[in-house]
Amino acid sequence: MRKPVIAGNWKMFKTISESVNTALSLKSLVANANHCEVIIAPVFTSLKAVADRVEGSNIQVAAQDVSDQLKYGAHTGEISAEMLKDAGCSHVIIGHSERRSLYGDIDEFINRKLRAALQFGLTPILCCGETLGERDAGNAEQVVNNQLTADLNGFADEDVAKLIIAYEPVWAIGTGRTATPDQAQQMHGYIRGWLTDKFGTSVSQGLRILYGGSVKPDNIAELMRAEDIDGALVGGASLEAESFAKIVNYNE
Ligand code: PGA
Repeated sequence: MRKPVIAGNWKMFKTISESVNTALSLKSLVANANHCEVIIAPVFTSLKAVADRVEGSNIQVAAQDVSDQLKYGAHTGEISAEMLKDAGCSHVIIGHSERRSLYGDIDEFINRKLRAALQFGLTPILCCGETLGERDAGNAEQVVNNQLTADLNGFADEDVAKLIIAYEPVWAIGTGRTATPDQAQQMHGYIRGWLTDKFGTSVSQGLRILYGGSVKPDNIAELMRAEDIDGALVGGASLEAESFAKIVNYNE
């Protein structure tokens, strides 16, 4: 069966010492959580310090983005997949809606970033999701279809099998307005069906699809009961160790 994944996206919060302190508190609070994988995604500058402090624990470390460029070169401001590995990352968030809408991450880049991550053995957490306008216009599934089709263009089944997908409706991110479990399940079911069509049953049945968008300690358990929700990508509620630990320990 699919092992759930609870991932915390710290966005542009926390200095190095704040990141380390939160990670250390979290480490003791989730030490007994064997039912799921626990991932935290600090800012780039905190990655190495956090990864060193959680080494050997059940917490894994993700970056929030990666360069599409593979080799050393004149790419000011970029950080390669190899460098993220070197800093202690096992995962990387790719195509978050904030990167898509604010920083020009188009599907073509996202496709190349996914390839770069896979080439260096990082597990991508690929984000997708529609805006409120797109949902209200009845286009939510079409938008997610378009994103996934372009992002995974040319991918082999065995590469797709290595991904984690996060469905994050843009209207639910940071708004306090969570998708209902039914709304989320409907899209997760759609995504799993889409994966079956394109990459076959064994890929679609094995792949973890996370829900993201205002996940909190008091709504996680209900979301996790939905058949095709295999975990969560948590923003705001992951910044405090106590609230994120409650989300990780949703089964208690
Ligand atoms: P949120 O963010 O939990 O604060 O809504 C989720 C995300 O952007 O990944």
